[in-house]
Amino acid sequence: MKILVVYYSQTGNTEQIAKAIHKVVLQNHESDLKKLSNVKSKDLDKYDIVFLGSACHATDLAKPVLRFIKRIPKSPNFKLAGFFTHSTTPPEGSERNKELNEKWAGKCHKTFEKIKLEKNIDFKGYFRCQGSPSPSIEEFIHETILPDDDEWREYIKEAKNHPNTTDIENAKNFATDILKECQ
Ligand SMILES: Cc1cc2nc3c(=O)[nH]c(=O)nc-3n(C[C@H](O)[C@H](O)[C@H](O)COP(=O)(O)O)c2cc1C
Repeated sequence: MKILVVYYSQTGNTEQIAKAIHKVVLQNHESDLKKLSNVKSKDLDKYDIVFLGSACHATDLAKPVLRFIKRIPKSPNFKLAGFFTHSTTPPEGSERNKELNEKWAGKCHKTFEKIKLEKNIDFKGYFRCQGSPSPSIEEFIHETILPDDDEWREYIKEAKNHPNTTDIENAKNFATDILKECQ
């Protein structure tokens, strides 16, 4: 199969995931790893699978990714899989984590689910993990989302380590599963 891994990343977190997916894909397939700015929607048709990645911005996929998605033709031949990184808590662990994730990163997976219907795409699923926040986002999270100092300290200690080796491993397993499903 011919596979594209395309991503939008400002501070490198999503790029790390893209590289991990690309590494797995390359083991048995022809694959291109590209930044979103280097891909035109008309280029997509030469691929069998497209892995599309984004940083989470303002609770959704980043604007350039949303614009790119709009330009994807209806009923394309390629299959689509998504991935994104976000700084807020992962949905696992506690009700509080789940709530915060839903509020601050919840649109990302919904947007992927929406294109499945709107574009009639064979969408295979998505991968997500936490990504370390940049200093300005760190400040925003402390001031706006987690003003309680104890909760903040616990959060930032963990968030700074992502994507970690488990995230990378999980991303690789995600890619392996998608490939198996698309054989
Ligand atoms: C402008 C901007 C807005 C962001 N908004 C959110 C947000 O709404 N929710 C969230 O969980 N993370 C948000 N983040 C944090 C990023 O999603 C997170 O750090 C991500 O891992 C960055 O990926 P990148 O390193 O590939 O750019 C935002 C980051 C930036 C720069």
